Amino acid sequence: MFDKNLLKGKRILVTGGGSGLGKEMSRHFLTYGAEVIICGRREEVLQKTAKELSEETQGKITAQSLDIRDSLAIEEKINNIFDEGPLDGLVNNAAGNFISRTNDLSPNGFNAIASIVFHGTFNMTNTVGKKWIELNKPGTILSITTTWVWTGSPFVVPSAMSKSGINAMTKSLAVEWGPNNIRLNCIAPGPFPTEGAWSRLSPDTEATSGSMDQSSMSSNPMGRVGEMSELGNLATFLMADGCDYLTGQTIAIDGGAYLSAGGTFSSLGKLKDEDWTNIRETIKKSNEKDKKLRS
Ligand code: HXC
Repeated sequence: MFDKNLLKGKRILVTGGGSGLGKEMSRHFLTYGAEVIICGRREEVLQKTAKELSEETQGKITAQSLDIRDSLAIEEKINNIFDEGPLDGLVNNAAGNFISRTNDLSPNGFNAIASIVFHGTFNMTNTVGKKWIELNKPGTILSITTTWVWTGSPFVVPSAMSKSGINAMTKSLAVEWGPNNIRLNCIAPGPFPTEGAWSRLSPDTEATSGSMDQSSMSSNPMGRVGEMSELGNLATFLMADGCDYLTGQTIAIDGGAYLSAGGTFSSLGKLKDEDWTNIRETIKKSNEKDKKLRS
């Protein structure tokens, strides 16, 4: 889709890069010439991914263990990374989530999500941003949110609240750090099945098993889940030079799902040709009845 050297010379850090969406975005960045550093909590998973992607793309990738809930560890890690060479990009992908009735959540349950998504993402962003400002260097930050930042979502309230915070941060810092040539954008993915998310959002119980699979995507306007490469392509575009004026935006990639859920007549997408013929005839009769009354 892009020139193979699109991201050549760029050094990009991807949080939660060992699996799921983070791994897929890292694969794309490497394919287009970037050097990638992946970080996460599971050293073994990170090392395995780094090996796999390096063999597949022949690109330069390193794995660093980091728990973004630990602000001191972030500071130390970012200093070490910049000592070896400045970053050009940060992808805030690491997240935590599970479905639960909100009235079943303890304060600790809320914090389990907020400490990663809300606090962790802010601390990563501010630590890297401060470095860029200190060095007078431009940078690009991409954060992964969800379409819940616009709609809210029941049963995942700590995530919806925390992701909305990232959305607000992105818009705020696009203005505050615009003069420093630091741009920030978000991708709001719809259903892209990954093991990490699906085991917590569509757990294998009688009531929820398969609730987010392809077979249950009939209400999605495109009738399907997202393909990982589609998300990787959008992330690559947003991390590349050439659209530097694009900042403070959140782009949904969900097959139109969140727009369709809001439309009053979205469910009519299921109707067949004969249904529309009947509807047209019925409305026509009603119009004629009105005309008679007016004449
Ligand atoms: C209610 C729960 C719970 C559940 C945990 N808790 N699971 N409460 N229902 N199902 C509560 C516990 O009781 C405890 O509170 C507190 O949360 C912490 O529990 P831990 O077991 O210690 O959790 P922890 O080890 O911190 O792990 C939670 C997690 C974990 C961080 C969310 O699942 C994780 O590491 N996930 C990473 C991967 C992931 O979740 N990916 C999904 C991202 S999807 P008490 O009070 O009992 O001590 C996403 C959006 C996708 O972000 C959008 C798709 C459309």
